[in-house]
Amino acid sequence: MRLFQTSSWCILLVSLLTLALPSSPAQAEESSTPRKPTLKQAAGPNLLMGCAVSASDLDNPQRAALIADQFSCLTAGNEFKPLSLQREKGKFTFEQADKIADFAQQHGMKLIGHNLMWHNQAPAWLFEDENKQPLPRAQALANLKAHIDTVMKHFQGKVLGWDVVNEAVGDSEPYLRDTPAHKAIGDDFVVQAFKLAHAADPNVQLYYNDYNMEEPYKHAKSMRLIKELKAAGVRLDAVGIQGHWLIDKPDVAMIEKCIDDFAGLGVKVMITELDVDVLPRKNAGADITATEKAGLDPYKDGLPADVQQKLAKRYGEIFKILAKHRGEITRITFWGVDDGTSWLNFFPVRGRTNHPLLFDRNLQPKLAFDAVIEALKASSPR
Ligand code: G3I
Repeated sequence: MRLFQTSSWCILLVSLLTLALPSSPAQAEESSTPRKPTLKQAAGPNLLMGCAVSASDLDNPQRAALIADQFSCLTAGNEFKPLSLQREKGKFTFEQADKIADFAQQHGMKLIGHNLMWHNQAPAWLFEDENKQPLPRAQALANLKAHIDTVMKHFQGKVLGWDVVNEAVGDSEPYLRDTPAHKAIGDDFVVQAFKLAHAADPNVQLYYNDYNMEEPYKHAKSMRLIKELKAAGVRLDAVGIQGHWLIDKPDVAMIEKCIDDFAGLGVKVMITELDVDVLPRKNAGADITATEKAGLDPYKDGLPADVQQKLAKRYGEIFKILAKHRGEITRITFWGVDDGTSWLNFFPVRGRTNHPLLFDRNLQPKLAFDAVIEALKASSPR
């Protein structure tokens, strides 16, 4: 009798569980309550999980809720860049950036300032005259100081850290990229930017951010820059490895070596712009001069199940390495929230349908989401 009662209870329990649990991944994906654990829960208290957003992303209530549920940290995809904040000399426009800063504050999220100096999305007048000739060094430094002072003071107390310089290491140059800033200021343009940033706000974290630093062609040059920044005695809290990776490249061993090498120089590491391109593509990274053959757009109607699984496997392998290096890595930020708003729908070919993130176009978690959660759970939070 007792045996019968126990087994009846078991059957009842199993039946109830079967009713309560989604019977298929599709059913699970239709649920509107956040799947537990969320990314930030699985990451634990010492590893920030971030995403890049645009101010307009926050207008969509479903996307806004997803961002607040899953992530602990925000980066503006465009709104903090010099061109967005000071397109015309002396005329600062903070409205869109403030919208993102306010959202972060309202939801108890950290905020990353991206960026103070970049060769792209910066107004030409910062470092060039009307004839596109480099400004004298003193004038270029004065323009940079005015920008950095105003912007950093505006966000003082709201930003955890700034990408002070973005993508200064050359792809084709022997060392640094020959940007307008380099031409006007000289070889120490990166050091000067860090000095100005630290003077503007001595309490905020300062980062150097770049892509493809794990690739052999750029790794030694990147290590040289970090060593030079350390030797110059500037504040440098972390190196941001962007993480614009492909479904089959780079090898995770290369990523791990890069993390180890930077950590060995005594800086923290952040993965700052993570996405995994599933479309045919020649090279990883974010070289804005890269072009691709148009027309290859195989997943317009959705990602086939086998590629969905391949993407999940790739994310799982990446996160296994990242989670293993908890401690050295203090933040992982995805470059976007969902596939629909990813920059990879426009780069390096305009108008393709890419699927590089953890949430699909309906803001539903993909298999890759589960793979990331599993990898994070498998390593104990510190
Ligand atoms: O704001 C204009 C708008 O007025 C105009 O109507 C529209 C027409 O195309 O363009 C809008 O500007 C676009 C801007 O994003 C805002 O959406 C630019 O054309 C477009 O080039 C720009 O792309 C940004 C890209 O940086 C520029 O290189 C992406 O959104 C942004 O995600 C991307 O982010 C960079 C990181 O900052 C650094 N690392 C690489 C990463 C990917 O390129």
